[in-house]
Amino acid sequence: MVLLQRRVLFVCLGNICRSPLAEGAFRHQVKQAGLEEQIYVDSAGTANWHRGKNPDIRSIQTAKKHGIDISHQEARQLGEDDFEKFHYIIAMDATNFSSIQAKAPYLHTATVRLLLEDVQKDVPDPYYGGNEGFDEVYDLVRDGTYNLLQEIREEMEPTEI
Ligand code: 4NP
Repeated sequence: MVLLQRRVLFVCLGNICRSPLAEGAFRHQVKQAGLEEQIYVDSAGTANWHRGKNPDIRSIQTAKKHGIDISHQEARQLGEDDFEKFHYIIAMDATNFSSIQAKAPYLHTATVRLLLEDVQKDVPDPYYGGNEGFDEVYDLVRDGTYNLLQEIREEMEPTEI
């Protein structure tokens, strides 16, 4: 049996608030499902302002409240090669989605879409707000990544799961 590893990249603007939380929540769910070998997870930002930084302390603390450690993550910028490496490139909001499309090479194989595509909602940028914005982001990314995991599981061969 050939095992095709699914590769999922979560993308926001700075890669220090929303996409690190999405990466952490999704990885946690993947681990609980016993699918760590089958599903690879990463995150990136459309901007490079925070490259090399750990997530915003408010994202780290929000994840911690849910038993998830994201403190080791390091911000990086989305690159052209990501469109070849990843099967799914998942945008947190509509602006991120447009920026991702603008960076995409002419021909690529990745599926680029909004995390909350089914409800046509953005994950709001919490950077300039208070702590409660991070709780809202966590709830949204937990639900969005849960749905994404179900979708990926449905398209996996029964022998893989
Ligand atoms: P993120 O949030 O895109 O969810 O990581 C932001 C982080 C930093 C900035 C804006 C949004 N900033 O302006 O530096």
